[in-house]
Amino acid sequence: MDKQILVLDFGGQYDQLIARRVRAEQVCAEIKNYNSIGLDEIAAYQGVIFTGGPNSVYAPGAPRFDPRILELGVPILGICYGAQLMAYLGGGRVETAKNGSEFGKTAVNFEQSPLFYGIPAESECWMSHTDYISAPPAGFCVIARSASCPCAAMGDDERKLYGVQFHPEVTHTAYGRHILRNFLFEICGCEPVWRMDSFVRTAVDYWRAELEGKRVLLALSGGVDSAVTAALLHRAIGEKLTCVFVDHGLLRKGEGDLVERTFREEMGMNLIRVNAEGRFMHRLFGVRDPEHKRRAIGEEFIRVFEAEAAKLGPVQVLAQGTIYPDVIESGKGPGAVIKSHHNVGGLPESIGFERIAEPLRDLFKDEVRRVGLELGLPEEIVFRQPFPGPGLAVRIIGEVTRERLRILREADAIFRETIEKADCTDLADQYFAVLTDLHSVGVMGDARTYGCTVALRAVSTDDFMTAQWSRLPYEVLETASSAITNRVPGVSRVVYDISSKPPATVEWE
Ligand code: XMP
Repeated sequence: MDKQILVLDFGGQYDQLIARRVRAEQVCAEIKNYNSIGLDEIAAYQGVIFTGGPNSVYAPGAPRFDPRILELGVPILGICYGAQLMAYLGGGRVETAKNGSEFGKTAVNFEQSPLFYGIPAESECWMSHTDYISAPPAGFCVIARSASCPCAAMGDDERKLYGVQFHPEVTHTAYGRHILRNFLFEICGCEPVWRMDSFVRTAVDYWRAELEGKRVLLALSGGVDSAVTAALLHRAIGEKLTCVFVDHGLLRKGEGDLVERTFREEMGMNLIRVNAEGRFMHRLFGVRDPEHKRRAIGEEFIRVFEAEAAKLGPVQVLAQGTIYPDVIESGKGPGAVIKSHHNVGGLPESIGFERIAEPLRDLFKDEVRRVGLELGLPEEIVFRQPFPGPGLAVRIIGEVTRERLRILREADAIFRETIEKADCTDLADQYFAVLTDLHSVGVMGDARTYGCTVALRAVSTDDFMTAQWSRLPYEVLETASSAITNRVPGVSRVVYDISSKPPATVEWE
């Protein structure tokens, strides 16, 4: 596929949001750091978007770019800092506002411009800036104004260069989507071709050719990313793919069997399930500290995985379920060799693979899910909630024992089933039970009990960086609480966690 849109990142907080907005229009967007790409590579794109950024163009060390970018003949849309940078590179003037920053929803008046085609002459836009463009460079006209911004947007129709001081990518800008669409379709001439069915066809053909004659190994956790990677590579190379599923005995009720059934029986994959519960329990004996637990599990995982890889004989390629936000967050940018695996705390580099295959590294999570559905994975897997790599071990406060795992597994299954039966799944993005280390007195029949306390946790969030505790109906909480105390021996009390993130985290450990 030809290169469509390049999002050139100058350190803005909305780079990923811009890329997602572009992809929502079925146009492929790639984010690259401003200092990781040269002019000739940029010339291959149909259009470029400069992101915002926290700096002033005059600040020492502020991100800059080669001014020749404006002469490549590639349409550019600069946003906020990106617009100021265009002004600065082109010889215009940028100043610091004397009356402080302009922040929030602001009424903006628009002139006639291909960028604003089809939108009203005045509407609200989201502003967040201290510097502003006081004079656009030669060749540019002012095409929008606000009360405190003499140049809220500028454009050079001939060179197809545009800069906007406001943020069209945030929903508070009333016609932001319309403006982005004008840029993509009218100004850059993009076609809406970024579709998941075509992605699957292209990726399957590509990896089939690329991996010809090679054996490929994948650590399958059952999470969405590794599951979709497995399904895609299986379609490309079939038998040549071996998936190793390390069952550390810290999975939720029925989870190991679901993974095995889905991948081996339903999808016909070459799957090795390693039942390593004994090894992990041994490693976790007496361990109470959360970080110690995580480290022990990560290290043990690597040992088990290495042992399985050694049994298989020569394997040339290690496949990983890296997705786009991982690539961006790792800060390594495209071309990075190996990333530390979220779920398993770092896969072995010592095994000596010839290469790493990461077929999903250009996709966002929602796109990965769409690819999963396209490939015929069941919704149970595709819409699976996030689950930490160290599994239930970080949901058991204190020591992990088989008995405590049994209690948590049952309580967690009851809570999840209650929410699903009550049709409340829309009220929370993640919900689970935690086994605390608190014992308390209870009464059952006429007898005194002294049992454990289970905490229920449900959160609503967009990105898991921040989260609100979910307002589940009292009746649902009551049903879950009484089912847990009645059906799970050893539990005498159930509490609901009403902390948001921050200051709490989603997981307790
Ligand atoms: P926290 O607890 O940091 O969790 O607020 C945010 C999200 O990340 C998940 N999580 C993990 N996912 N490996 C993972 O793959 C881990 O070690 C891990 N720890 C937390 C958590 O379930 C939540 O969705």
